Amino acid sequence: MVAEIKAKITYIELLREDLVILRIVPEDGAIPAYKTGQFLTVGVHVAAENHKMVRRAYSLASHPENKRYFEFVIRWVRKPLPGRVTTELFYASEGDTVYLGMPTGNDLLINEALHDGSPDGRRIVCVGGGTGIAPFVAFANHLHDAGDRREVVVLHGASYVDELSYKEHFTGLEYESAERPGEWNFKYRAAISRPKEKFNRTWTGHTGRVESFFKPGKGGRSPLEELVGEEITPDNTMIYICGYQGTIDGVIGHVEKKGFATMRDKKDDGSYAIKYESYG
Ligand SMILES: Cc1cc2nc3c(=O)[nH]c(=O)nc-3n(C[C@H](O)[C@H](O)[C@H](O)COP(=O)(O)OP(=O)(O)OC[C@H]3O[C@@H](n4cnc5c(N)ncnc54)[C@H](O)[C@@H]3O)c2cc1C
Ligand SMILES: NC(=O)c1ccc[n+]([C@@H]2O[C@H](COP(=O)([O-])OP(=O)(O)OC[C@H]3O[C@@H](n4cnc5c(N)ncnc54)[C@H](OP(=O)(O)O)[C@@H]3O)[C@@H](O)[C@H]2O)c1
Repeated sequence: MVAEIKAKITYIELLREDLVILRIVPEDGAIPAYKTGQFLTVGVHVAAENHKMVRRAYSLASHPENKRYFEFVIRWVRKPLPGRVTTELFYASEGDTVYLGMPTGNDLLINEALHDGSPDGRRIVCVGGGTGIAPFVAFANHLHDAGDRREVVVLHGASYVDELSYKEHFTGLEYESAERPGEWNFKYRAAISRPKEKFNRTWTGHTGRVESFFKPGKGGRSPLEELVGEEITPDNTMIYICGYQGTIDGVIGHVEKKGFATMRDKKDDGSYAIKYESYG
């Protein structure tokens, strides 16, 4: 028997035909405690399958301090066949019922301590490919609300400019960091991977897939290093990645020669500087 909460969709923001922000609230209004970077399952009755319950995992874009709702950013999977759960969610309305599992997952929890137990004060670099930005919305809001003074950099990759789902929010957080130096240190940059397509004609920011922020440029420094003003090393930077395996492999390929090891393949002394969650 799966522990599950009956819940209602309370807010739908359709960003484009196949990308949506959903807010979901348990029927009793109580948001259970969870950790920033976790995910949970959303279950729906699939009409085409005699109303069988089908569940899928979705990253929590909301942070634990937000006791009003769970938030998700979800892609409607349509190829080669319409996805079972996303199709139901994209036909749902505010007020409709869904079923939530309990928040879970340890791959993207924020490190508070180093392997030797001392506080982890390294810069936090978040890399989100597409809807893989979800956990990092939670990261940014949690670190902000907790008054965390570490430097935070959020990098988001998308094919099209209208898929930069939280651009306005992240830009606001960066403006705020200019107003509160020493207290809040936040940077946001996006990468558009199809810059030649007409819909992206106004884009003047970084181009290429998001992992190219880590690729050394002519002077040897990567665009990320230009942004933060120094070489990134495992001693000064902790990297979190959520996206396609290609995004994860791309980032690791650029930084492993600098000595960055992953949590799943730590160094002999137990240290690491990369955590990731793959789209699977
Ligand atoms: C930890 C975790 C977190 C996640 N977080 C998010 C998130 O934040 N946002 C998000 O959008 N997604 C997220 N996902 C992905 C999500 O769990 C689902 O996998 C996704 O939404 C698709 O579910 P679906 O039921 O709509 O598609 P499914 O029905 O499972 O279909 C999946 C794929 O298989 C194809 N397919 C289905 N049936 C067939 C068939 N008979 N023959 C050939 N192909 C077929 C479909 O076309 C589709 O491409 C996450 C996954 C994990 C593991
Ligand atoms: N934690 C998870 O497991 C998780 C979280 C979120 C979403 N998902 C699932 O992942 C799927 C796709 O996500 P999405 O729609 O958000 O992505 P998307 O919008 O299709 O792509 C996002 C970015 O990733 C690039 N990309 C595409 N394929 C890639 C690859 N193989 N390697 C590296 N980069 C690649 C794209 O570049 P191009 O423009 O060049 O294609 C684009 O810049 C959906 O099915 C979603 O449900 C899983």
